[in-house]
Amino acid sequence: MPGLQQDVQEIIQRHRSQVSHLIAILQEVQQKYRYLPEEALAHIATALNIPPAMVWGVATFYAQFSLKPKGKYIIRVCNGTACHVRGAEHIHMALCKELGLKEDQETTADLQFTVETVSCLGACGLAPVVTINDRKVYGQMTPEDVLKLLQGLQREAEAVERRENIA
Ligand code: FES
Repeated sequence: MPGLQQDVQEIIQRHRSQVSHLIAILQEVQQKYRYLPEEALAHIATALNIPPAMVWGVATFYAQFSLKPKGKYIIRVCNGTACHVRGAEHIHMALCKELGLKEDQETTADLQFTVETVSCLGACGLAPVVTINDRKVYGQMTPEDVLKLLQGLQREAEAVERRENIA
């Protein structure tokens, strides 16, 4: 991946190559790439002079880390009890169908969207709940609502792409 080693090295240097900062380093790498590329993990192990198994161990232990590429928009559908009984599964199915995601596939090929199910998001009173990039919370969703939400995100993604092409 072009520039990856340099980017990762900058992050490591900001943490003064401290092994005790391994989790923070991994968090920053993931923030930048939306996942932890293998090449980055290998580079971190070499740069910190620790066994690769230690870096992989931490990266796979914590649920916050992903070794698989994720989309620009991460849509989480809560499937905790309250959301499940209020139709979360239909919301999830509508999203997967619309995005052409097959069973066990969470991310679209163009890396724009990732759809995940999660257990209780702590907003059961708003069930069924959907979040976008862990920043926006949408409650009392229906399959129709979530498809409208998706259309809005698709328009936003297209507008960003147009801007990036012009720049
Ligand atoms: S079960 Fe979905 S927010 Fe609690």
